[in-house]
Amino acid sequence: MQFDREKTKRDKTKTANPGDDQQEAAQSSAAPCEWPLSRREFVVGAGVGAIGVAASSSWASPIRAPHATEPQEARAIPLALTINGHEKELSVDPRTTLLDLLRENLKLTGTKKGCDHGQCGACTVLVEGRRVNSCLTLAATVDGEKVTTIEGLANGGEFHPVQAAFLDNDGFQCGYCTPGQIISAVALIAEAKRGVASAVTRDLRQAGAIELTDEEIRERMSGNICRCGAYPGIVAAVHQANGEPFSQGDVGTHEKEDPSAAF
Ligand code: FES
Ligand code: FES
Repeated sequence: MQFDREKTKRDKTKTANPGDDQQEAAQSSAAPCEWPLSRREFVVGAGVGAIGVAASSSWASPIRAPHATEPQEARAIPLALTINGHEKELSVDPRTTLLDLLRENLKLTGTKKGCDHGQCGACTVLVEGRRVNSCLTLAATVDGEKVTTIEGLANGGEFHPVQAAFLDNDGFQCGYCTPGQIISAVALIAEAKRGVASAVTRDLRQAGAIELTDEEIRERMSGNICRCGAYPGIVAAVHQANGEPFSQGDVGTHEKEDPSAAF
């Protein structure tokens, strides 16, 4: 057999020259590999394959955008309110805030939207005599209650004493915060007269009305921000209004018929 004779001959030669093994190995490692594809063909093929895998996996499990926030229609709910002495039967989206109900639905734009986050007090209104941030109050939660806005304070052509005091003492500049400031001032004067303590009230055992010092007024009005910095005039206005002979329940034309109902 020709093959066996050739192999035997090579083996004999290797035995005679053992260094030839290393030389052969070195030559074989230095020799270029014989790939069935050229380098260029391999790179192009790998790229196409990767794109294919990525595309197929993205089709198999599509990447979804975060939940779309399409506004959805909610079933309107009935609501009965007494606003500035007027009874209203309304039908509102249950997500409506009291502020939006007043401004958008009822066009009572005296109540202002400042921050819409309960931080500035521009939206302050009275609900059953209590001051609330209407931007944080859902209209549905005050069903059946009495709401007083800045439009409900004056008695016909006659200003409420707090309104008059703000005018007398320059308690405003641009006026944007003023409706909320005035409503808050009306409520705080009533609170002090009822003996409701604040964070700076020194004697909590004291019965009866609490004296409205500058410190008390500033603390009790601290939820109402004035970007114009009209604070000195506002404090002076509260002092003046506090000395006026008007009752705790005197918060507007319509509530005067039943002053105790508001507080
Ligand atoms: S608008 Fe309500 S607190 Fe600012
Ligand atoms: S008067 Fe301008 S923000 Fe108060």
